[in-house]
Amino acid sequence: MEKKGKMMEKARVLSGMRPTGKLHLGNYLGALKNWLSLQERYECFYFLADWHALTSEYADTGPLKSYILDIGTDWLAAGLDPERCTLFIQSRVPEHAELHLLLSMITPLAWLERVPTYKEQQQELKEKDLSTYGFLGYPLLQTADIIIYKAHYVPVGVDQVPHVELSREIVRRFHYLYGKEVFPEPAALLTEIPKVPGTDGRKMSKSYDNAIYLSDPPEAIREKIRTMVTDPQRARRHDPGDPEVCPVFAFHKIYSAVAEIDRINQECRSAEIGCVECKQILSQNLLKEMQGFMERREYYVHRPDQVREILEEGSKRARRVARETMDEVREAMQIA
Ligand code: TRP
Ligand code: SF4
Repeated sequence: MEKKGKMMEKARVLSGMRPTGKLHLGNYLGALKNWLSLQERYECFYFLADWHALTSEYADTGPLKSYILDIGTDWLAAGLDPERCTLFIQSRVPEHAELHLLLSMITPLAWLERVPTYKEQQQELKEKDLSTYGFLGYPLLQTADIIIYKAHYVPVGVDQVPHVELSREIVRRFHYLYGKEVFPEPAALLTEIPKVPGTDGRKMSKSYDNAIYLSDPPEAIREKIRTMVTDPQRARRHDPGDPEVCPVFAFHKIYSAVAEIDRINQECRSAEIGCVECKQILSQNLLKEMQGFMERREYYVHRPDQVREILEEGSKRARRVARETMDEVREAMQIA
């Protein structure tokens, strides 16, 4: 028999992805790999933030369901283990909306208006009308996502840190107003994001059309690497190159062994190696590293019902936790 006092509860981690497109290597190296290592040490909740996707995609909701399935497939292929972490869909846990509503009562408008992503995104996505109620509430819905599971840590990129900061402020305000410490104050776990360039040398992004997708077959990946931008100064085979400005080399740093990286570094500068060969080596190393992922992806792609079932079961489990928290919230707020 385990003694209760000695049982150390694992700290809780929560994070989400918006299902607004297929995942690419940048998403994999930046977020997913990190999620994977966190499941070893923490009790993890990972979810598809489909309501958050709606804040910008409300006029074109058609593709949402297929992105949910596609990303769920990538998660499982990457090795997120539904036995160890809870994988779920935000909209399948309507308690997020209830908590969002209650929190909206205590959140000063100015707190939301001063979140940097609010004006930035409106500027950036000019083609979409983001002057909506839902978009202003984006970080508050995110707060509800986080605290409804009493998460301690939230792995996110640096752009999301102000959102986690807001959630801490909301938690403090809730405790101050209702005199009950219901929630831990969540902390951002900054994900060290390796700079992954796209095939054109800019940041990898679906909107630049320069991404290598996790769902790309090996042939497509080879072709994308074959036509990738290199050092623009290296016009001819006998011109020496500068690996530090070459996106192909940036990938070697991720996928090739140290000795090979050193060799390419030297032989590019002395024009001993050509870009064609350099890219072939990269393709080989990258595909070898991704082989396990691709095999597992192949398995799940042909079993969409199994993927849906896992997300459905995860959503049920998440909902049980969310309901318990909502009982405490209603009690603290003295709601009937
Ligand atoms: N806003 C996050 C992003 O764009 C997605 C997200 C929604 C999220 N809810 C969350 C991340 C809660 C962490 C915790 O990446
Ligand atoms: Fe880039 Fe490789 Fe060509 Fe050098 S040899 S410019 S690192 S592709």
